[in-house]
Amino acid sequence: MDTPTPDEGVDPVPAALDRTRVPTHVACVMDGNGRWANARGLPRTEGHGAGEVALLDVVNGALEIGVRWLTLYAFSTENWRRPADEVRYLMGFNESLLMRRRDELHQKGVQIRFAGRRDWRVPRRVLRRMDESIELTKRNRTMTMTMAFNYGGRAEIVDAVKALVAEGVSADKVDEKAIRRHLYFPDMPDPDLVIRTSGETRISNFLLWEIAYSELIFPEVLWPDMRRRHLYEAVVEYQQRVRRFGAVHP
Ligand code: FPP
Repeated sequence: MDTPTPDEGVDPVPAALDRTRVPTHVACVMDGNGRWANARGLPRTEGHGAGEVALLDVVNGALEIGVRWLTLYAFSTENWRRPADEVRYLMGFNESLLMRRRDELHQKGVQIRFAGRRDWRVPRRVLRRMDESIELTKRNRTMTMTMAFNYGGRAEIVDAVKALVAEGVSADKVDEKAIRRHLYFPDMPDPDLVIRTSGETRISNFLLWEIAYSELIFPEVLWPDMRRRHLYEAVVEYQQRVRRFGAVHP
């Protein structure tokens, strides 16, 4: 596949988007790659490959409007249940995507992180690329891009509880702050906006703790067709929502 150029035909930021109220943290479930490929008579893996352009365009759009945190669901703890060929492809694809893109992300000031379990199922060479990307970009501050990889929201909470128990924290000291301190990235603010493409209206074990008060938007676009304009549309919709966090809005 050609190395795509996501800056082609850049979508302008719509006038309706208020740049003073951009969500700090946007999280995306990159869904619909398989359906995009099926509709074209292609193998599912081609859909994932085509998702790379979407990913880069969304990163660039997020940078353009000043999103500070972008989290992308790249592989869940349940995705090991997919056919072995697809799993193998996804491991190699995530590794090669890092190789292809990390320098340009680095130049743009993006810090790359990974949220998820580093268990034996993740090939060592993939872990190596992940570590190299973390190291390369660790001083960048323009935006933090977290790839949720071998990530499960339930697993994250289990891991936090395990860490609390291992520290010998007594039951009366367990509160929300204590759990948050043991999440994968305690410094990561909760997502303001979660976007799941492809029209599916599920969370599928994504950031369960962190999305307690996130705004959820489910555009119909399939991930490979996702472009920054869809991000902008979601941000405009987000800006029309009233967030109450359980209180009464004045
Ligand atoms: C959750 O749906 C969706 C994900 C975990 C995203 C998976 C994304 C990829 C495999 C492609 C990654 C693409 C790029 C460009 C890096 P689910 O299918 O796990 O859950 P469901 O069964 O509830 O729909």
